[in-house]
Amino acid sequence: MAQVRELTVTYYPEDGDPVRALDGVSIDVHSGEVVGILGESGSGKSTLASALLRLLAPHARCESGTILFRGCDLRNLSETELRAIRGREISLIPQDPALSLNPVMTTGLQIGEVLRAHLPLNAHERRQRVLELLREVGFDHPEEIYSAYPHQLSGGQRQRIAIAQAVACRPALLIADEPTSKLDATLQTEIVALLSQIRRQHGTAILVISHDPALFAGFADRIAVMYAGRIVEVGSSTEIFGQPLHPYTQALVRVATSSALTKSRPRVRLPAIEGESPDPTCIPVGCRFAPRCSERMEVCSLRYPREFVPEPARPVNCFKYGE
Ligand SMILES: Nc1ncnc2c1ncn2[C@@H]1O[C@H](COP(=O)(O)OP(=O)(O)OP(=O)(O)O)[C@@H](O)[C@H]1O
Ligand code: SF4
Ligand SMILES: [Mg+2]
Repeated sequence: MAQVRELTVTYYPEDGDPVRALDGVSIDVHSGEVVGILGESGSGKSTLASALLRLLAPHARCESGTILFRGCDLRNLSETELRAIRGREISLIPQDPALSLNPVMTTGLQIGEVLRAHLPLNAHERRQRVLELLREVGFDHPEEIYSAYPHQLSGGQRQRIAIAQAVACRPALLIADEPTSKLDATLQTEIVALLSQIRRQHGTAILVISHDPALFAGFADRIAVMYAGRIVEVGSSTEIFGQPLHPYTQALVRVATSSALTKSRPRVRLPAIEGESPDPTCIPVGCRFAPRCSERMEVCSLRYPREFVPEPARPVNCFKYGE
């Protein structure tokens, strides 16, 4: 349904060096599929989400690549054509719903605005539809929530409003950018269960973004691992957790497993992957993970590893799997 090919995006800040946030990123999302994008802060996850909806900052440039949605390249559409797709066919649950919701408009009217933009409903039908949506995302008393302002709601409730807004027109593809990063563990589980339910009931494909591998367990069908603007490995959830191929994925999964253990022993310090991502204004020519990789070889610093496919449907960019 959606195919991103060789997408390259650079930010050109007024007072600094250009930042290549995405460098030849390719990823497919099939109908009804949940695809996870996993990577550390700054790896380019939100840039990918914004590029997919053509909502990049004005100083960002999409240098090359294609974004096919149902066979049509979104990069070639006019702003009017795009408006018909955004919120209707593809919609976004943003990284911080507290910032994206309008503070001076009731939640019911805000959800209604999305319906008004895309569907021919009268005011009464729109209100009924919003109340249904509020019930669907877990509110037992939708009338009260309908007339509440965002600041009167908790973080978890605001996230449910953002989800109701995003699914209002039953999009084919939902992009969820760190949908639980501001929530505690119990609410995280509830939001993931809600997204799973939406996918089950409506066949919605979901591209879900997180730095936390635990979010994808039992939820994502496939996971693409991003590092410093590139996808370095793709596999099914079971493969990524059970048999990660790339040394970066292996480290992430190791850290996630020991984090899960230390959560039950809170006084133990959470582990982290040693070292830092490369400076995005000065990316090295070789493998970007090389400075942090315990398995690096001479060739790793000489050129970027091409994609190897050591097992069916398991692309990985690492010289351990070929030269
Ligand atoms: N508006 C912007 N202007 C300039 N550089 C930006 C902008 N937004 C992002 N970047 C840079 O692009 C790179 C990718 O950022 P992006 O926000 O896509 O990463 P991310 O994986 O979503 O990180 P996080 O997990 O912290 O949300 C980073 O180096 C970041 O500093
Ligand atoms: S290409 Fe080399 S440095 Fe990069 S992850 Fe593989 S072994 Fe490590
Ligand atoms: Mg982000």
